Amino acid sequence: MSTPRFADFQRILFFTGAGLSAESGIPTYRGSGGIWAEYDYEDYACQRAFVRDPEKVWDFHDKRRAAVGACEPNDGHRIIAEVQRERAGTSVVTQNIDGLHARAGAPDVVELHGSLWRVRCDAENIVRADTTVPMSPRRCSCGRHWRPDIVWFEDSLDHRNLRRAREALEQCDLLVSVGTSGVVYPAADLPRIAMQGGAVSVEINLEETPVSALYQHRLRGTSSEILASMHA
Ligand code: APR
Repeated sequence: MSTPRFADFQRILFFTGAGLSAESGIPTYRGSGGIWAEYDYEDYACQRAFVRDPEKVWDFHDKRRAAVGACEPNDGHRIIAEVQRERAGTSVVTQNIDGLHARAGAPDVVELHGSLWRVRCDAENIVRADTTVPMSPRRCSCGRHWRPDIVWFEDSLDHRNLRRAREALEQCDLLVSVGTSGVVYPAADLPRIAMQGGAVSVEINLEETPVSALYQHRLRGTSSEILASMHA
């Protein structure tokens, strides 16, 4: 089976994960050198931890802001942005919170897991962009700590993002999963919607994942190289 080429499809959907940003120097979450190998999410990335010790949670997210802020989008991000600008029916649904899709020029990105560059105060019902590093001030005018607008473990996904993702998955004719281990739900379930809709499915990853068998094309290598080969 020859590798699908973007030029042969009308409604492409890119479903991306941390592996796409790895080539920009941002560590992935799992595997060797993964963030969760060094940090226990129970202490740094869930609402319980935030209620218990918001300063500690912010110290961790400030480290992430500093690291991500020092990185640039890579060729993989740029190719996806170019395809989305060139081909009107292209959707980008990401689990990444780093903002690199938008920085690469992608005009419309569904951020399923939120963003490192937004904060919210649930008491005041405010959500706003914030790119300060370290994040400052850490407290809203109501006195409570701003919360990173990120979908942490045990959080539910935003129903508006889910609806947008589902609609795009139902309509796509080519699904390209890029750099995700496919182990975090409900996001990991979403590609099935495209497959059930008859879309051609491609998994780009350095290695086999628990969901590889679901994909018609399992392309092994770095995301930037393989995306370039599909864009040629
Ligand atoms: N090119 C392609 N794939 C790569 C590359 C690369 N250069 N580098 C790593 N990978 C692959 C790894 O083999 C792995 O399968 O990317 C995947 C990264 O997996 P995870 O670290 O589990 O990241 P992701 O799937 O995005 O995590 C999902 O989990 O921790 C939560 O909310 C967080 O959004 C995140 C979610």
